[in-house]
Amino acid sequence: MKLGLLILVFASGPLRAEEDGGDFQRYAAMFQQKCAKCHTVGLGDRVGPDLKGVSKRRERKWILDFIRKPGDFLDSDKTAMELLKKFNKVRMDELNLNEADAAGLLDYIDAASEGPVGPQDLELPEPDPYARLSMPDEHRGILIGFAATAAGLLALAAVLFQFGFVRIAAIAAILSLASGYWANGGRRDHRVFSRQQGYAPEQPLAFSHAKHAGTLQIACLYCHYAAERSDAAGVPPLKVCMNCHKDVKRPKEDPNGVGEREIKKIVDAWERRADPAEKGIQWVRVHDLPDYAFFSHRVHVGNNVKCQECHGPVQTMERMRQAAPLTMGWCVECHRRPPSEAPAHWKRAGATLDCAVCHR
Ligand code: HEC
Ligand code: HEC
Ligand code: HEC
Ligand code: HEC
Ligand code: HEC
Ligand code: HEC
Repeated sequence: MKLGLLILVFASGPLRAEEDGGDFQRYAAMFQQKCAKCHTVGLGDRVGPDLKGVSKRRERKWILDFIRKPGDFLDSDKTAMELLKKFNKVRMDELNLNEADAAGLLDYIDAASEGPVGPQDLELPEPDPYARLSMPDEHRGILIGFAATAAGLLALAAVLFQFGFVRIAAIAAILSLASGYWANGGRRDHRVFSRQQGYAPEQPLAFSHAKHAGTLQIACLYCHYAAERSDAAGVPPLKVCMNCHKDVKRPKEDPNGVGEREIKKIVDAWERRADPAEKGIQWVRVHDLPDYAFFSHRVHVGNNVKCQECHGPVQTMERMRQAAPLTMGWCVECHRRPPSEAPAHWKRAGATLDCAVCHR
């Protein structure tokens, strides 16, 4: 009886993929790996269109051929050319899929269109987790302290000079200048300690996470692809920028030409890449733990800890800043959380408190 029911369920299933759970899993994974950087199913447009219900708006054969050879279509097919225009002239990757894989992926997309499937519908529980981490850019109290110190030292220098202690007066004057500079925002550009919440140095190129990760909804992992696989998340090489900026030469709105000027820096550096004197874009590092502490992105990202839980609301940052304190207390506080207090999207809670794991 039970077996009969089971056969009935399988036989009447609306999806070909469900006949073979293994295939379904395999294509769900393949979608995550090859397509999710640019597409969602039901969570809105990203780099490419939301694929929810794509089989309802286009013919199956068109979709299969398009997935296999997007380039051919983007140059000649009217529908594809319209899509290309709508999606900021970003061309879909040539993934060299065979027929069976294209069909399997489309089955997965159809299945996912019917309801929530796969890890991509794990949404961040809204702002709470990082509200705790947010911190004003300026440590006002400290700054006033430095300003007062600067004034005091200057007065001292003047008095000492009057009484002929020229050398000590000079030292006091130099210290006064340093304090003044520090108070006047200098701490944002020069770090004295290895960790500084709120640190937001000026970058050589005005790259905006708010524009790319916010407005354009480009997935973090599209650029920081190493975060899934290695300890360091890495900053994307120019080649990744050129995927889009070989076509996108200026923002849609660019009243004072800044966007165009900044994009030109990317293209110039790319065109001169064969020249050994060309160093590319030298990004200033923002997050940096001391060498004696070990951190790995792979374990955290693999456990589905969201980037924003540690880096704050990056998708709203015009300029990158360190949102979390990055102290040992901060790491350990999160590692201590029991499963009952951990967000539901984590796979596991209760991480290591062993000194030797973080200090190797
Ligand atoms: C580099 C980003 C990127 C990747 C990776 C990518 N796509 Fe696309 N895709 C796009 C863009 C952008 C478009 C819109 C057409 C264009 O501008 O090239 C698109 C269009 C499509 C369309 C047509 C949608 C419609 O509304 O007609 C389908 C179907 C599609 N992609 C499927 C896939 C599948 C399946 C994969 C994984 C095997 C994939 N794409 C990987 C960027 C990408
Ligand atoms: C998936 C496509 C894509 C990638 C990858 C990409 N960009 Fe952009 N970028 C755009 C689009 C589209 C715009 C124009 C947005 C608009 O019209 O407002 C843009 C705008 C810009 C601007 C203009 C200033 C602004 O904020 O509007 C700069 C600078 C820029 N990008 C730098 C970069 C750098 C550096 C990289 C590589 C790390 C990069 N982009 C990667 C799509 C991309
Ligand atoms: C279009 C490519 C692109 C996307 C998408 C993107 N980033 Fe970045 N990211 C960069 C570049 C380029 C830098 C270096 C320049 C800077 O710091 O602004 C960077 C820097 C960072 C840094 C600081 C690195 C350091 O020096 O410590 C963090 C943290 C970061 N990104 C997190 C994210 C998160 C989280 C997302 C998704 C919400 C994201 N990024 C999306 C390109 C990207
Ligand atoms: C558990 C907290 C945590 C999570 C989750 C996390 N990061 Fe980080 N991230 C850090 C710490 C800590 C550092 C400093 C690492 C160091 O200096 O060794 C860092 C550094 C970085 C850097 C710059 C240095 C590097 O490692 O190359 C980038 C870029 C970055 N993170 C991006 C991301 C992105 C993108 C995600 C999500 C896919 C993410 N991070 C998720 C804590 C986290
Ligand atoms: C937002 C919460 C959170 C923060 C903040 C955090 N971690 Fe973790 N960390 C986790 C979770 C959850 C795991 C368990 C992953 C697993 O079991 O797969 C983990 C695992 C690890 C592991 C692997 C442990 C092992 O047993 O192999 C290391 C190493 C680690 N974290 C280091 C750090 C360091 C260093 C920091 C601070 C710079 C940090 N973590 C900050 C949540 C966090
Ligand atoms: C989850 C990871 C993690 C674990 C577990 C951990 N530490 Fe740390 N520890 C760090 C990080 C990250 C730093 C650097 C940040 C800082 O200076 O606060 C650090 C800094 C330190 C420092 C430098 C002091 C300071 O505040 O500058 C000492 C000493 C130290 N740890 C000892 C220990 C001992 C002893 C244990 C075991 C009881 C331990 N740690 C367990 C991550 C960890």
